[in-house]
Amino acid sequence: MPVVIALISQKGGVGKSTLARAIAAVAAGAGLKVRLVDLDPQQRTLLLWEKARRDNEIWPEITIEALATSEGPDVRAPMDDVLILDLPGQMTEAALHVALRAHLVVQPTGPSRDDLHPGVLVFHALQNCGVPRDRLVFALCRLLTKAEEDKARSYLAAAGYAVLPGAIPERAAYREALDRGRSLTEIDAGLDELVSSLMAGLFRKVEEQAYATSG
Ligand SMILES: Nc1ncnc2c1ncn2[C@@H]1O[C@H](COP(=O)(O)OP(=O)(O)OP(=O)(O)O)[C@@H](O)[C@H]1O
Ligand SMILES: [Mg+2]
Repeated sequence: MPVVIALISQKGGVGKSTLARAIAAVAAGAGLKVRLVDLDPQQRTLLLWEKARRDNEIWPEITIEALATSEGPDVRAPMDDVLILDLPGQMTEAALHVALRAHLVVQPTGPSRDDLHPGVLVFHALQNCGVPRDRLVFALCRLLTKAEEDKARSYLAAAGYAVLPGAIPERAAYREALDRGRSLTEIDAGLDELVSSLMAGLFRKVEEQAYATSG
């Protein structure tokens, strides 16, 4: 059975699809069998990225499955190692059902109060609907300074939620890489230490949660 990671947020443009691609690229690069699912029928940005990846002959190959948000994939498919579910920027009943089936629910957030406050409300709502707090984690995204990172980290800690180590800085090079079908772990300049730390923390956390569920 695969470990299931859901990327969720109420806000658009925070980095869900960007992070979903990075998780897929790292896992596939490590030889794992990855299923990356685009659950956002309004945008289908993962399909565009898959095409760019294919056109530019970038490896490893990552296949995208496109489904309706409410369709939800089979989270027990025995042939997958990692199932990554990329949701639209909107909390709906269908998104909640996806979150309930994930080992880890990752919410990317920007560092402003306008991003952090709704993010905390989303996790409160998921908890109220039965998603255990241990499965909820924030990923700090689109940061410009260390001061922004520190401030966001303390805001979320004060709200009682886990935050992944590291962060995803805001970089034009990431946008360019994504446009060419790469993930932000596959850029020419090499892997950013903050991103590497975030990815390692994410895989550690999902392993912990999958183990806790199976035990
Ligand atoms: N760290 C970053 N640096 C620069 N650009 C970024 C970064 N993260 C995301 N972007 C860009 O910001 C835009 C939104 O990112 P992304 O699509 O990952 O957000 P999302 O949360 O999936 O949005 P939506 O809710 O609309 O699905 C994209 O154009 C992406 O290339
Ligand atoms: Mg998206």
